[in-house]
Order: sequence, then structure tokens, then C-alpha cells
Amino acid sequence: MEGVENERFRVKLRTDGALAITNIEENKIKVYKGIDKQIVALLLKYSKSSHVEKLILEKMGENAENVLGKLEHIIDELKDMNIINEEKNNTSYKINKQNLDIYSENLTKSLDEIYIEITKRCNLRCYHCYIDNDILKREMSIEKIQDIIDQAAEMGVLMIKVTGGEPLIHKDFFKIAKYIRDKNMLLRVYTNGTSLNEDVINNMYNCGVKEIQISVDGFYDETHDSIRRKKGNLNNIKQALPILEKNNIKTILSFTATDFNVSEIKYFSEYLKEFKHIKLNASLFMNYHNKQECNHDMLNVSNDTINELKRCAYTMQDVWSKKMDYGFTYSNDNIGYCGAGNFSMYISSIGEVYMCPVLQENSFRLGNVNGERLKDIWENSEALNEFRKYKLRDIDKCNSCQKVNECRGGCRVRAYLSNDSIYSHDPISCSMFLED
Ligand SMILES: C[S@@+](CC[C@H](N)C(=O)[O-])C[C@H]1O[C@@H](n2cnc3c(N)ncnc32)[C@H](O)[C@@H]1O
Ligand code: SF4
Ligand code: SF4
Repeated sequence: MEGVENERFRVKLRTDGALAITNIEENKIKVYKGIDKQIVALLLKYSKSSHVEKLILEKMGENAENVLGKLEHIIDELKDMNIINEEKNNTSYKINKQNLDIYSENLTKSLDEIYIEITKRCNLRCYHCYIDNDILKREMSIEKIQDIIDQAAEMGVLMIKVTGGEPLIHKDFFKIAKYIRDKNMLLRVYTNGTSLNEDVINNMYNCGVKEIQISVDGFYDETHDSIRRKKGNLNNIKQALPILEKNNIKTILSFTATDFNVSEIKYFSEYLKEFKHIKLNASLFMNYHNKQECNHDMLNVSNDTINELKRCAYTMQDVWSKKMDYGFTYSNDNIGYCGAGNFSMYISSIGEVYMCPVLQENSFRLGNVNGERLKDIWENSEALNEFRKYKLRDIDKCNSCQKVNECRGGCRVRAYLSNDSIYSHDPISCSMFLED
């Protein structure tokens, strides 16, 4: 494979017929929709193009032109990625099987990503954290975590998001990261950045970590460090950024906005321009466990804050992270924009499974990986099947909303906190999308 020795790909035929291709080295997912599943399968099984064309014409009738156009586009992209090469006679394709992992999904609903909370322990006590103060010390063993990763790979999961608590304080963090990458899955690590330095970043790089998300809650030290309750934390993160950039590690700075810090998001737009691999993403503080009542001054979220966040999302496009784009690739009528319960789920530090990192409550519990297979939970959990029954059209406010394709009803946690139901609209999303 000339010129692409280091590239590895995982190709997945999703249950809905879309083709998802992950470029393992670049930690990227690309999705191709609207192509008949059997035809893509045929293409990937080295069929001659004329053969595939004939089949499309037979099967698709009036839609054939459209499908052929899309197929041509896919073929060009697969060629660009060196996944297939045209044979000399120009009538067939040869797949570069080396470093290519083709997976045809066998689930009733695709599972593309899972979060694994490898620990709830943390070296910080941030004012806003949704994780209960009553932190559990009990954790899954490394063998259990590896078993989950094995099961995820078997199910065709494309990305694992390793989070906490603070995952970098877990004694087996590097071992876990390497295990995931050795299974040809993408990896994103969520960290508070306290332990990032040249050695740690080099170790991460050597284990195949290509993407991390670091929390920043202010542009100035006083702001960030007072929310995070750790002097010097932001400075340490800023020192780490050039090292991450040098190592080509994609970095998302994740800003949790409140009235206290929102005015500082905009200062990142200049600061980040010099970094190619570092982007910013901001979201609003969510008042889980009534944190706002205890720390009101820091955690209030007013309409002005919502408007400022909206303004930043529009005006800072060049430094804004596109991490949410994957979810929007699918036009479906499921509720929620982030994929929770639709193509994503969360495994807590003791193996409890939930739809989303924040909704770690009994009423949203889907199962437990100690004793149940991940696949059984994903396919058969009563709570999940109930959630999937509800569609956007079942939410009164959303079903006639012009912004429904951009918003998908918003965040399930915010809907729940506002209306006491995850089957309701998210009023903050309405403010973001509907009001000027
Ligand atoms: C729980 S932390 C785990 C990873 C790591 N310890 C960190 O701080 O980045 C994951 C993310 O959730 C955010 N977060 C925590 N509590 C939140 C809340 N109540 N509302 C919104 N975001 C929150 C954090 O700021 C962080 O970006
Ligand atoms: S560093 Fe992360 S896990 Fe720890 S308290 Fe802060 S937000 Fe929570
Ligand atoms: S903007 Fe509001 S009403 Fe419209 S889809 Fe989003 S949550 Fe529903």
C-alpha cells in the first residue's frame, strides 16, 4: 500500500444502510448515506463495477441515476483514501485488505459510540460537577474494562470515549487507551488537564491517543481556577497546548458556560488561531443535583448568557469544534441531538449502563455490564426500547417547529430538568434556535 503504510480503516455497514468509515490514524469518522446496503456490501466484496451498475439499474428503477451518482462519489472517496484501487483494465476495484477491517452490523439499531467512565475518583472538586459528591471508590477491574472493549468492538462500535471522574488518575489509563486503539477503534479522552505535561502527552501519543477533550471554564486564570478550585490549572493546560499541537493530537477545549465566565469565550477566538489541531466547544451549565442552589453566584445561567453563547457559536466558526456533527449526519426522527440512546450509551465506573453521562439515576438505568452482555442491554433494555418508541413528532412543541432538523428537540437532560420528562422539548434549545 504505497504511501499509506500507517493508515488503518474500519468500515462499517450500519443497520440503516449507511456506510461509516473511520480513519484510525486521523481519529475521524465519515458517513455515507442513502446507498442501498446490499450494493455497498457488493462493492466492498470486490464486485466489478459493471456488475454493480447492472444490479443498481435492476433494483432501483427510477432511482438508479441518483444512486449511481452517489455511488460514483463514494467510489472516488474510497479511491482517495486508498481503500480501493482501480484495476488496470478500469472495470473492477481491488480492495486494500491490509489494515482494513470491514464490519457488517448485525444489530437492530447501530451502536456507534460508548462512554466508559473508568473512575469516578477525581483530583478536583469543581463547583459545577454533575457527579455526586458522594464519590464511589469501587471500580470495575481492568479485565472487566477490557471485556467491555472487546464486546464493543464485536458490536461494531466506532468510538470509545474514556471519561471520569478524572481518567488520567486511573492507574491503568495508558493500558486501557492502548487496548482500545489496538482494536482499531477511535478514542477520545476527557480530562481536566491537571496532569498534562510533556511526558504524559508523549505516553498518550505512544498509546495511540489522537484526540482529547480538556475542560476550560474561563480564559483568565482567576475565572477558570476559581470554578475548578485549583490554582494554576488553566496555566498548566495552556502550557500543554503547544505540546499537543506538536504531537498532532486533536484537542477540544470544552467550556461550561455560566453568567460568571461566558464573557471570556470570545477571547479564545484569537488565541486558538495559531493552533491547527485545537478547537473550542462551549455548552451551558446544567443544574444537576441542585448545584446552582449551593453555588449560585458562579452557576447562574441567564438569558444574556444563552444569547452570548449563541453569538459565539455563530461568530467563532473557525475555531469552533465540529464534534457534534457526527450525530447530525443521520436524518432520523429520534429525539435528541447527541445520540444518547440512539447511537450512544454510557457505562459508569461500576458497570451501570445509562443513556447519557449526566442522567445517572435509577429511572434511567438500562442495565449492568456485570452479568449482562452489552449487546443484550443495547437491544433489549426496556427503558431504551421505551425511549426509542418516542419520536420528535410526539413532542408537541417540536413537531411543528421549523428548526427541528437542526435541534432535534435539544438535550434530554435539560428537557428533564425543565419539564420533569425526557419526552419533552428543551426550552434552552428553543432559546438558542428560535429567539433572537
Ligand atoms: C464530568 S467531566 C469528566 C472529565 C474531566 N474530569 C473533566 O473535568 O473534563 C466531563 C465534562 O462535564 C462537564 N460538566 C460537569 N458538570 C457539569 C454540569 N453540571 N453541567 C454541564 N457540564 C458539566 C465538565 O466541565 C467536563 O467538561
Ligand atoms: S475535574 Fe471533571 S470530574 Fe472532576 S470535579 Fe471537575 S468536572 Fe467533575
Ligand atoms: S427549537 Fe424548541 S421546539 Fe424547536 S425542535 Fe428545538 S426544542 Fe423543539
